[in-house]
Amino acid sequence: MSTWYQPSSGHRSRLRWVVAGLIFCILLALLAVGAVVGWVLWTYDRASANTAGKVSFTNRLTVPPLAPSRLDERGRRVFDLTVQQGWTEFFPGNATRTWGVNGSYLGPTIRAARGEEVLLNVRNTLDEDTTLHWHGMHLPARMDGGPHQPIPAGGTWSPTWRIDQPAATLWYHPHQHGDTDRHVYRGVAGMFLVDDPKAAPAGLPATYGVDDIPLIVQDKRFGDDRQLAEGSPPLSPIGRLGKEILVNGVRRPYLDVTTERVRLRLVNASTARVYNIGSSDDRAFAVVGSDGGLLPRPETVRRVQLSPGERAEIVVTLRPGERTVLRSYPPDLGADFFNDRFGGGDDTLDLLELRAAATLRPAPALPATLAPAERLPESAAVEHRRFELSGRSINGRDMDLSRVDMTGVRDTVEVWDVRNGDGAPHNFHVHGVRFQVAGVDGRQPPPAWRGWKDTVLVRPDSTVRLVVRLPRHADPRTPYMFHCHLLKHEDEGMMGQFVVVERPGQQADSIPPPGHDPESHAGHGAPAR
Ligand code: C2O
Ligand code: CU
Ligand code: CU
Repeated sequence: MSTWYQPSSGHRSRLRWVVAGLIFCILLALLAVGAVVGWVLWTYDRASANTAGKVSFTNRLTVPPLAPSRLDERGRRVFDLTVQQGWTEFFPGNATRTWGVNGSYLGPTIRAARGEEVLLNVRNTLDEDTTLHWHGMHLPARMDGGPHQPIPAGGTWSPTWRIDQPAATLWYHPHQHGDTDRHVYRGVAGMFLVDDPKAAPAGLPATYGVDDIPLIVQDKRFGDDRQLAEGSPPLSPIGRLGKEILVNGVRRPYLDVTTERVRLRLVNASTARVYNIGSSDDRAFAVVGSDGGLLPRPETVRRVQLSPGERAEIVVTLRPGERTVLRSYPPDLGADFFNDRFGGGDDTLDLLELRAAATLRPAPALPATLAPAERLPESAAVEHRRFELSGRSINGRDMDLSRVDMTGVRDTVEVWDVRNGDGAPHNFHVHGVRFQVAGVDGRQPPPAWRGWKDTVLVRPDSTVRLVVRLPRHADPRTPYMFHCHLLKHEDEGMMGQFVVVERPGQQADSIPPPGHDPESHAGHGAPAR
């Protein structure tokens, strides 16, 4: 027996410890990997929601009241709005802390006609600054209610302007820099309907609350205490996603339909979720309007997809006594496996049950044409710009309230190519304008995008070409915003600013810090041009 290998007993026990330690470490590592994989699988499993056919629609849909108004001595239509805190009973017997306008949750529908001058007195009774932005409105930048027009806690802001755009379904919501998501999520939002009586097509349902119904669609997460859960679900690439749907602030809502045709004005007022709206029986319906107003003609579709901030007006035809559910099918986010799953791309959610009465008031056929088919030609563009969306920046830059990202000339046409260079979905919204979608990766846009828009989904690795007519209102020292309308992204810096000047070659002024422009409190000053 050779003795070349004769470890001492001390060596042997040390070796034993090392081996035992190694095994222990490997087991620990396996356990950790197992736990992470388990958690991802569990999270993956829980990330998607399917409520199709599982919702008992027990609550009558409420329709937001029309905001009362009066005419002042100068003939302006005056609205008084109070942003406030309150309690809302989403669950019987439970009070949820919420925010709203002239009420505890959401706000009244503001309605004004083309040509009218409006004055809005917005009082902020919250404990913190907020703003109220008129999404889709054509107005001077200092009346826009963006991050440059904060309303201090306890203060009042009184913007005024002349309504000068075609009939459209617009909406309003806070735009406080860095806090937009939270303020909107808590409930500050409402509709702003622009009417154009001279151009209203005969045959389109138009009786508010009867056959012309606003639908503010939002998703929420409630905690066990029935309070709004404000965090994002794990791994969500786009922010707060909830499985509980509110329409006009009502859970599990149904609508009693009394006419053969009903016009539904859909606003996606969610902070992150994209809906792909159809009906549970897959029936076809007509899209008659988009963000910026009526389409040239009704488009028959089975789905209409809406990312946050987008609107669609649809007309649904019903037979006496029947029921159908407005359902959001899995949206086409165009994202990779991970971003799709955790961004709500696999979700099916029931939104609202339509219940037709046993006898329905007859409705005329829809008109063949709705609005002039006006095309903004790309050849009219005086400028061609590119916007690259990635991470939380646009063209590599995060939002800076003092930086002017772009200067354009009032009332000119520009072509904007907006590209998403990310794995996650983004969308793109421009203040103060309507634009047309000239193409998506060189192809025709979907039917519901064939009118005027102000917000579009931009899928990963895709480019959307917009033809934009810049605002008529020039103001060298007050910018308008462009941004991703997934509000967490916006809050995290995915926003830029553009200034509109009077004539080519003119420079923008330096931008005063938010709230430091005396002219933005114009309630008693000069009316908007
Ligand atoms: Cu809906 Cu910048 O806003
Ligand atoms: Cu806006
Ligand atoms: Cu985004």
